[in-house]
Amino acid sequence: MTTPETLPPPEMPTGAGFDPETVRRDFPVLHRTVNGHPLVWLDNGATTQKPRQVIETLAAYYASANSNIHRGAHSMAREATEAYEGSRAAVAAFLGAASPDSIVFVRGTTEAVNLVAQTWGRANLGAGDEILVPALEHHSNIVPWQLIAKERRARVVPVPLLPDGRIDQDAFADLLSYRTQLVALSHASNVLGTIPAVREMTALAHRYGARVLVDGAQSVAHFPVDVQALDADFYAFSGHKLFGPTGIGALYGKPEVLTAMRPWQGGGNMIDSVDFGRTTFAAVPHLLEAGTGNIAGAIGLHAAIDWLTSLDRPAVEAYEKALTEYAVRSLATVPGLRLLGSAPERISVLTFTVAGYDPATVAECLDQDGIAVRAGHHCAQPALRHYGLESAVRASLALYNTPREVDALVASLQSMQQRD
Ligand code: ALA
Repeated sequence: MTTPETLPPPEMPTGAGFDPETVRRDFPVLHRTVNGHPLVWLDNGATTQKPRQVIETLAAYYASANSNIHRGAHSMAREATEAYEGSRAAVAAFLGAASPDSIVFVRGTTEAVNLVAQTWGRANLGAGDEILVPALEHHSNIVPWQLIAKERRARVVPVPLLPDGRIDQDAFADLLSYRTQLVALSHASNVLGTIPAVREMTALAHRYGARVLVDGAQSVAHFPVDVQALDADFYAFSGHKLFGPTGIGALYGKPEVLTAMRPWQGGGNMIDSVDFGRTTFAAVPHLLEAGTGNIAGAIGLHAAIDWLTSLDRPAVEAYEKALTEYAVRSLATVPGLRLLGSAPERISVLTFTVAGYDPATVAECLDQDGIAVRAGHHCAQPALRHYGLESAVRASLALYNTPREVDALVASLQSMQQRD
């Protein structure tokens, strides 16, 4: 790799209560090499790395505390139950929910959206009803709605985007009607980085009696969330994009919405009493958690939340904003690079194409220099097609990334071009 000499100097916040180098020490994997180079992990939109606090919590749980929960009659079952339910309380506090009973553990955001579609959707959607879905959504916030809409003879209506990747608010207002039963939108786009005006859009949707589901998969690692301030009816996120384990996530539901929901999977844990004549059910959230959950995952998620919330979050946000601005300016120095999306409110996601290069080839070249990015459609094909594309490269930054790593990305892109 060459050193890019033309780059403007980084303008990072100084004196803030956050130092990425200190945080990096918590992440063992960030100190490995890939293809002979120090790892530069810029695939945080796909999954974040895990701090040792999470890794050690998972290892300690399996080494000394493993037990099933809720139905055991022994000390370890009680301890594991307390830890699992303690995680639920931590998730509730993390999201600003009034009660742990508003939190359902799920496999991740995808399962949360499918749960809402299959339970709330099946009970509340009818012929001619509409679900508004902005065109920047991830496939996991489009396809579950298409499936249930087809079954219920409802319609999924896309909300168009503006050229900069914001949601067209005039079109949104025009599309809302008393036919709208649900608005399903991301709190941050995984491909354009856009942070939509969720609170305002929710308030508008509520005027028509519509419910609002917010996909927080890409937001929770970047800025604090308060589901009550947003007035969201549902909010979902995945643990693995929040420095926690894979296979665990959470769905928040407003109490009055959640308590009216029917079960979606049957089994242990979600019942009160079972008889071939009549089965009665447990209350939410257990009603929606059939079978043995991801106990270790929930406990690891609690560790991740504790780790993240121990940081000065406004300082983290300011750092990420400055790093993103630096990355945007730096990438602009690469000949032929086209950055998708320039919404003023955005997270640190940088999706781009380089003229003359297939995105998969760009990702392979970067990988040779130890730089991990994602290439392809990013599970958001309508968002890419808004820019006339089927594929692009995505560098997604997290709080542990540094200007030096952005420099490495830019230098690697430049050396790819110099090789040809
Ligand atoms: N949804 C994840 C991403 O955007 C996997 O990469």
